[in-house]
Amino acid sequence: MRGLMPAKRSEFQLALARDCLRMLQGHVEIPRVNDQRLLDHVVGADGSEEGFLSGGFLTAVGLMSMLQLAGRPISSFRRILDFGCGSGRVTHWLRHLAGDAELTGTDINPEAIAWCRENLDFEANFICNGPRPPLPLAAESADLIYGISVLTHLDEDLQFQWLRELHRVAAPGAVVVLTVHTDYRAVRTLSQSAFAKYRRRGFFYQRAASDDKTVAGLPDFYQVAFHTRNYIAGKWTRLFEPLLSVAHGPFWSQQAIVLRKRDRTTPRLLKPRWKHVKLPLGGMDTPGFGGPPQGDIQHVAGWAFDPDSDERRNVTAWVNGKPAEMRYIEVERDDVKAAFPDIPHAGNAGFMLNVELPANDHGFHVIWFTAGDSPVPVSATYVTG
Ligand SMILES: C[S@@+](CC[C@H](N)C(=O)[O-])C[C@H]1O[C@@H](n2cnc3c(N)ncnc32)[C@H](O)[C@@H]1O
Repeated sequence: MRGLMPAKRSEFQLALARDCLRMLQGHVEIPRVNDQRLLDHVVGADGSEEGFLSGGFLTAVGLMSMLQLAGRPISSFRRILDFGCGSGRVTHWLRHLAGDAELTGTDINPEAIAWCRENLDFEANFICNGPRPPLPLAAESADLIYGISVLTHLDEDLQFQWLRELHRVAAPGAVVVLTVHTDYRAVRTLSQSAFAKYRRRGFFYQRAASDDKTVAGLPDFYQVAFHTRNYIAGKWTRLFEPLLSVAHGPFWSQQAIVLRKRDRTTPRLLKPRWKHVKLPLGGMDTPGFGGPPQGDIQHVAGWAFDPDSDERRNVTAWVNGKPAEMRYIEVERDDVKAAFPDIPHAGNAGFMLNVELPANDHGFHVIWFTAGDSPVPVSATYVTG
């Protein structure tokens, strides 16, 4: 997908920054998730408390920006369902932004739901659901449903059962956002023959390794699934119309798909006309998440690369939605090279720049970077003060 026109692009960034600052102002500190198993499930193997907070924030920013890009900002929804909410890693950031919207979180894991009920002191309804539908929710009772890294674990039959159930719970015109793994994740994870099957069928489900901490203790059906976009366009469209996909960036090795509930009047196109945003894989190391600023000038350092191309892209840093400085990616990063040994150009994927922190009375500065001409942040953080 091509980027927005420059004027629209800066409007987009400013609106996103306003929402991010509101989200930070309304955010309250939550108790530490000191159960390592819960962290392993939602943050990734050996996930940390810091990763829970920064990853939840980044996913919330990714979700908000793609909803905004699809023309349905988060503030426009009244009944929001976080399907597979885990320990509320994303929900707790959105609570304030969602205004007086009703928030519901459901998960199959009773420990995660118990943690949410005990520790997230806001008006959300946390429900433990069974491995198969139905959810204990009325038909057409949600106008936004998101499921972050849930369908990445279900076999094909369960996937269809849950898609039908989400369709039942979705109100007419509701938006549904679901994430699936990207092709790059499939290349890295699957054997050659499994990858060939994945490309042929568009869907592949396999057992996680026996020592995979991200599935330990969860029911046996909870393994690892991969979907191509063609499969989604072919198989999900009886129920949902795909609007937009955003790969990598805030969703790391996954892509988020924005869908709209299909009803009898929605035309079913042979080839859906959805938009695709492919962001680099990337991250920001400096400033640290939520820390104090360095002064009026803040050093920003990170890395970004496109796993499928060594074409150099520029990055733009944004402070509270205003562009700060643009740089080509050129700094050597041995740590990134070591983490992605299969990508020769990962070794010089670093960037560094200094940004000015304008005086403001928000109490926060939200900083993100974009790559090329896409308006969706690749990674985001904030400083306090
Ligand atoms: C990788 S975790 C992500 C959790 C959360 N969405 C987040 O981003 O922090 C996947 C979650 O999906 C939940 N899950 C898997 N299958 C589910 C189902 N059929 N219904 C509800 N939750 C499910 C798991 O228990 C787990 O908490």
